[in-house]
Amino acid sequence: MNAKEKILRRIIRVDQAGELGAQQIYQGQKFIFKLKKNMKDFDQISKMASDEKEHLDYFDNLARHKKIKPTKLKGFFGIGAYAMGVGTALMGAKAAYVCTEAVEEIIEKHYQKQIDQLDGIDEELKEKIIKFRQDEVEHKNTAIDEGSREAFGYSVLRKTINETTKAAIFLAERI
Ligand SMILES: [Fe+2]
Ligand SMILES: [Fe+2]
Repeated sequence: MNAKEKILRRIIRVDQAGELGAQQIYQGQKFIFKLKKNMKDFDQISKMASDEKEHLDYFDNLARHKKIKPTKLKGFFGIGAYAMGVGTALMGAKAAYVCTEAVEEIIEKHYQKQIDQLDGIDEELKEKIIKFRQDEVEHKNTAIDEGSREAFGYSVLRKTINETTKAAIFLAERI
């Protein structure tokens, strides 16, 4: 396997894990908003979740096609992300949006790094990630518009989720 192929495979693998995580966070939040009969935020989260589904399907297909094994931490990430969704939604709608803001600000940079790396390696994947990155920026802006910054304990929560997201990326790229 040449160096370019290695970069490509590492990118697909970590993004597949990340998009699964995003999907799971939103599923956890939707579960709580439904329980609380908060349909306004349920609908808003559902809209973002449908973008994540498109992202996940794309990486799932690519991984299958290239026979890339998912990270061994897939199950762990799935449960952890779902718990993060449930936990933040239980803290309130604004805390749920802090979760989106904090995750997306890391993913936005993560995708930008990959866009730069993919230059001259795979234009098709690069274009897809440019589009996905734009979706993530929109999610972040939606979260801010919905009042993430007014959430109780905003700074600590945001920092904690920033660091958790970075740790998940670090692990998914290696294990
Ligand atoms: Fe996504
Ligand atoms: Fe997103």
